[in-house]
Amino acid sequence: MRFIYPLFLLGAYLAEVPAQAQTVHSPSNKLTLNFRLSPSGEPTYQLQFGTKPVLKPSKLGMLLQGQPGMDQGFTIAQTDSSQHDDTWTPVWGEVKQIRNRYKELAITLAQAGQGGHRMVVRFRLYDDGLGFRYEFPEQPGLTYFTVQQEKTEFNLSGNHKTFWIPGDYDSNEYTYKTTRLSEIDAADVTPIQEKSAADRVQTPLMMKADDGLYLNIHEAALVNYPAMMLTVNRQTFGLTSTLVPSVTGAAAYLQTPEHTPWRTIVVSNNAPEVLASKLILNLNEPTKLTDTGWIKPQKMVGVWWEMHVNKSSWNYSDTGNLKLADTNWSQLKPNGHHGANTANVKRYIDFAAKHGLQSVLVEGWNVGWEDWAGNWKEEVFDFVTPYPDFNVAELQQYAASKGIKLIMHHETSGSVTNYERRQDEALRFMKAHGYDAVKTGYVGRIIPRGEHHDGQWMVNHYNRTADHMARQQIMVDMHESVRPTGMHRTYPNWLANEAARGNEFNAWSEGNPPEHETILPFTRLMGGPMDYTPGIFQIQLESWNPERNKGRQVHTTLTKQLALYVTMYSPLQMAADLPEAYEKHPDAFQFIKDVAVDWDDTRILAAEPGDFLTIARQAKGKDEWYLGAITDENARNQTVKLDFLKPGQRYEATIYADGKGASWDKNPMAYQIRKLKVNSKSALKLQLAAGGGTAVSIKPVK
Ligand code: NOJ
Ligand code: CA
Repeated sequence: MRFIYPLFLLGAYLAEVPAQAQTVHSPSNKLTLNFRLSPSGEPTYQLQFGTKPVLKPSKLGMLLQGQPGMDQGFTIAQTDSSQHDDTWTPVWGEVKQIRNRYKELAITLAQAGQGGHRMVVRFRLYDDGLGFRYEFPEQPGLTYFTVQQEKTEFNLSGNHKTFWIPGDYDSNEYTYKTTRLSEIDAADVTPIQEKSAADRVQTPLMMKADDGLYLNIHEAALVNYPAMMLTVNRQTFGLTSTLVPSVTGAAAYLQTPEHTPWRTIVVSNNAPEVLASKLILNLNEPTKLTDTGWIKPQKMVGVWWEMHVNKSSWNYSDTGNLKLADTNWSQLKPNGHHGANTANVKRYIDFAAKHGLQSVLVEGWNVGWEDWAGNWKEEVFDFVTPYPDFNVAELQQYAASKGIKLIMHHETSGSVTNYERRQDEALRFMKAHGYDAVKTGYVGRIIPRGEHHDGQWMVNHYNRTADHMARQQIMVDMHESVRPTGMHRTYPNWLANEAARGNEFNAWSEGNPPEHETILPFTRLMGGPMDYTPGIFQIQLESWNPERNKGRQVHTTLTKQLALYVTMYSPLQMAADLPEAYEKHPDAFQFIKDVAVDWDDTRILAAEPGDFLTIARQAKGKDEWYLGAITDENARNQTVKLDFLKPGQRYEATIYADGKGASWDKNPMAYQIRKLKVNSKSALKLQLAAGGGTAVSIKPVK
């Protein structure tokens, strides 16, 4: 008994003496962050919105390979607090200017004794959320090091409603599931990836708490590091970071001084504020480009959808088992339905020129498509040899004569070693032939074999490509890349990414449910623009290949496709359907011709993830507004006040609405167009059909 008494006292003493703790309030006091060390020196943080808990105490830490972990045994060596408030102008974007206002707390942690490390945790607390990252200063005993795993916790306050896709290391091309955290079951992943886990999901992860808070967890400025996925504890509602592994199993190979991407949590008590948040962009580095005049937001058409609906093919011949170096492409027997032939490309150039669109994407122009997908083959494409029926010089001249730019396509088929080896030559080819934009693609498994689309090696590839292209004044759009993290602030030539399940799935799979486009802005688009490829007018697909496309349709009404140009933000938009589909509906096509792709202002007028979304945007440098309203599978009525218009000015609103009896599944192509005079005191009554939408253009009356 004599010994137990003092031990008990000691325990009480440790628990009571506060471990060193720090508190920060956001600039307008909406959020409160607490940082503290546990008695064993584990760093933890906690976040509150007003009096509502957002994150319960959650651990921070890093596990290294062959070295002691940086997750415990710390003392606080130094704390630095500061505040920041400035406004910057994006090269293009949803708004003209962005305010970057936060309180910063940087905590330098030190481990005692031999082999102990130093690490800084830097927090930036905004009124709409928190960003924090780990920094590894230069120090004795930590130069080259390997991150085995990052142990960042996000311990949520309840069993939130969650919009999630499985934690596939290679693909984001899923429809979203909406469940409670406790019900997440992500075991069902498609075959491209090799490691699945029932409890692992991807970011941006969108959640809604029962107390009305909306939370979004993602990351900003993903550089030289793998993407962060989240492993869910379905009992405690805790999330733990899970980094995408490299081929060796370790997560990241680093050298001091280095830091991780920012971990981000956007928090609001209303959904529109989540969409309006600029936190992720603010946490990215400003661009170093001084001349950005060559970067052009734009609308394109493409020799593209016709392949997805099987009217034509990417490949020139139906011969298989070809080897890139050994094949005499001019002697192959053409299959008779190759899409990227000179005459067909000219038809698209004519169409773009006639309707004031800027560019034409051409896929399937270069040799290699006979063997491209699924073979895990090193040498698929060389990115410089056109098929015999694609005349590069003639098309360069023709496009230039019509004021149209051709967009280059580099499908890598996942063979990224091959692409990197040939990228300089491919760039020279582009420069020589007048191309100033490229779409890259990474379909299939990655070479180097064993690397993942979302691992450190590939993250470095995407960033290097954006950088490489920027130096050559080339704009870029990436498909099947890692999902964006706001890097377009640093590389404004990186116009868009796919990195989610695009409209193309409606052409050849069970498609995307009507709610899909109401969720994407709250998930995938939190990190940056998406090349979703809206604008399909021939909703019920005309079936050229009954096997593949028969009975398929796009899961929206026609006017919802128009609304997507506003709700699905991107400075690169595609008029994705075939010219002949637009020629049948010139009145509805007018909206696609008119709608802007760069904006001075954006108002999120109504939003609920999974249900509906209404956004109005003001065209860059103009007193013109475009409004898009979309709904899920439920029809909805909505009244929209136009109080964002300039007082005293009269405008003409052209309303592209679902027709009588329209619905996404039974009558998707019915629409009606009305014109109305409006001003800042007007309100529009919108009637959205099931799976429908309304698009409105609002232009001043002179
Ligand atoms: C998938 C891309 O998302 C699509 O846009 C492209 O047409 C095909 N890959 C072929 O590269
Ligand atoms: Ca819904």
